[in-house]
Amino acid sequence: MTLEVISKEMRAVGFDSPGGPDVLTERMMDIPAPGEGDVLIRVLAAGVNRPDALQRAGKYPPPPGASPLPGLEVSGIVVQVGRKVAPDLMGQKVCALANGGGYAEYVVVPAGQCLPVPDGYDMVEAAALPETLFTVWTNLFERAYAVEGDTVLVHGGTSGIGTMAISLCRLFGVKIIVTCGSDDKCKAARDWGATHAINYRTQDFVAEVRELTEGRRCQAVLDMVGGDYVQRNLRCLADDGRHVSIAVLGGSRAEISIAEVMGRRLTLTGSTLRPRSATFKALVADEISAHVWPFVKSGQLRPAMDRIYPLEQAAAAHARMEAGDHFGKIVLKVGEEG
Ligand SMILES: NC(=O)c1ccc[n+]([C@@H]2O[C@H](COP(=O)([O-])OP(=O)(O)OC[C@H]3O[C@@H](n4cnc5c(N)ncnc54)[C@H](OP(=O)(O)O)[C@@H]3O)[C@@H](O)[C@H]2O)c1
Repeated sequence: MTLEVISKEMRAVGFDSPGGPDVLTERMMDIPAPGEGDVLIRVLAAGVNRPDALQRAGKYPPPPGASPLPGLEVSGIVVQVGRKVAPDLMGQKVCALANGGGYAEYVVVPAGQCLPVPDGYDMVEAAALPETLFTVWTNLFERAYAVEGDTVLVHGGTSGIGTMAISLCRLFGVKIIVTCGSDDKCKAARDWGATHAINYRTQDFVAEVRELTEGRRCQAVLDMVGGDYVQRNLRCLADDGRHVSIAVLGGSRAEISIAEVMGRRLTLTGSTLRPRSATFKALVADEISAHVWPFVKSGQLRPAMDRIYPLEQAAAAHARMEAGDHFGKIVLKVGEEG
């Protein structure tokens, strides 16, 4: 079922061989065809995420069957639906977790990975929600069981992930301590809603967490650094605390005290979202729809926006992300609503 006349080709941004931001170039490609459980979205905006930069650098290849183009989240209009998809999705404004391919005028996404964008919600902002929302929800609230009254520690407080974690913690009554690499970033994180922000370059975050919590420490740590942070993170956890790894920016190997894990009943876990099945991602979308979407509808949950670039300037967007000066989300503007 098709809504509008769709040409055969689309503009997209991809790369031929891995490298720095400049390997990203514009190209014409065939518009992908939706399978029976998919929708085709005419993309209005695409969020930029660190995993896109890792993919471009050759360090995070797309899973089998996924588009070779970067782009894990989009907003746009459903213009075609597969045979098994409810026809009323047609023409809807949605944001979606994509399995890749978001840096293009059209992308195919499993129908279950779409969420409706409420009237009046900015479509560029909507594109900046899914990847960090799905990641923080599944890791901090499901794997680490963060609940009202808890205190959690999240590294990268000004990152896309960190700013989403701050927003969700505020909405769900969780105190959040973040770490950042400068005093300016700490101020920005506090202004965004972090309960406390620690400059990890000038302060020992383990000692600070103890002090800020009056010795009680945290119920959970959301970690994107790995390496020698892991043992230090464990020391920030209260007994029965949970440690969730979502990235290893500082190294994938860690030496930890198993005696401490046993003695204080700590849990170490982690996950990567991209390779999970469409069934799993649809389940997460359902949970987000039930528990988080009311805050999107009321306008209480909006992403922290850094800069917006046109699709053809994706290389500049990646360069900005890798320079590390951004606060929140970088987004590519792809199309117009009308
Ligand atoms: N597992 C998953 O499913 C999943 C899904 C999405 C994203 N991720 C990961 O989550 C991380 C954040 O993603 P994003 O898109 O939000 O990226 P981003 O906005 O580029 O943020 C990266 C952050 O990492 C911090 N950082 C980098 N190197 C560090 C180091 N060695 N020590 C401490 N902090 C460091 C930076 O903060 P400072 O400048 O303050 O140091 C920056 O805020 C990425 O590593 C990404 O791959 C994982």
